[in-house]
Amino acid sequence: MPVSLPPALDLSLDLLRCPTCRTRRLRPGHGALLCPVGHTFDIARHGYASLLTGTRATSGDDAAMVQARHRFLSTGAYAPILEVGARLAVDAQSEQGTVVDVGCGTGYYLAGVLDQLPGARGLGVDTSVRALRLAARAHDRAAAVAWDLFRPFPLADGAADVVLDVFAPRNPAEFHRVLRPTGRLIVVRPSGRHLAELRGRMSAMVTVDPAKEQRLHRALNPFFETVVTEQVEYAVPLTKLDALDLVGMTPSARHVSPADLAGGVLPDRVTVSVLATAYRPR
Ligand SMILES: C[S@@+](CC[C@H](N)C(=O)[O-])C[C@H]1O[C@@H](n2cnc3c(N)ncnc32)[C@H](O)[C@@H]1O
Ligand SMILES: [Zn+2]
Repeated sequence: MPVSLPPALDLSLDLLRCPTCRTRRLRPGHGALLCPVGHTFDIARHGYASLLTGTRATSGDDAAMVQARHRFLSTGAYAPILEVGARLAVDAQSEQGTVVDVGCGTGYYLAGVLDQLPGARGLGVDTSVRALRLAARAHDRAAAVAWDLFRPFPLADGAADVVLDVFAPRNPAEFHRVLRPTGRLIVVRPSGRHLAELRGRMSAMVTVDPAKEQRLHRALNPFFETVVTEQVEYAVPLTKLDALDLVGMTPSARHVSPADLAGGVLPDRVTVSVLATAYRPR
């Protein structure tokens, strides 16, 4: 049985362009999206569109990381991060509009933003098929598409009112191209104090590079200027499972040994500290 077109994908179909010929629109057909010259992209039975065909993604979360992230986000511990992202998105546009969440993961932030924008539609983009399975059912107005952010996006010029990037890779030139001139890019990233208690106890956990803010500025500055930056910092209590999930959902998971995790070295509370900036295109 071919997969029918998921309603959220139907809602966002006009944003998509054939990734092979770049400019042509896609139309639905027999469990797939088709371009007029015959390029075909499957719609997975989990509801996301597989535009990334025949190429290996450069990066992306594996099943264990996605599970850990999904469990941890479900605790609500990052709800204040969602709140600030949603507030910046709401400030950026009227109720209707298009939100593209790049490196959307499980779709947690995209769904939360769409809840605050009842007339808006959303599109989540990620390389991780495990994440996309969740993102495709995160919200009834959120479509999900497999794509690698380091390649030219399969999206029309000026299609987005908001590009949302939460802890995800960045492609400033493509963010600029797909945003409307009046749109906003919202970038949420960790500050140097984020999860300090966990980092302190686990030598293998990747640290936040102190020059990261400078690098971010240098990368974005040719394309964007800052409208506003908000800092969100608070402490959350952690159960042992929460702490394991926090480690498990980061790239550090690949470097932390079972010995690191044994022996009760996990903290029972942790500082969450992020910066969220809204940028306008130059
Ligand atoms: C730290 S997670 C953040 C996920 C989500 N924004 C959140 O905060 O819950 C980074 C996400 O970027 C995705 N990712 C990594 N490299 C990518 C790439 N080249 N293109 C698209 N997504 C990528 C990962 O699969 C993962 O879902
Ligand atoms: Zn094509």
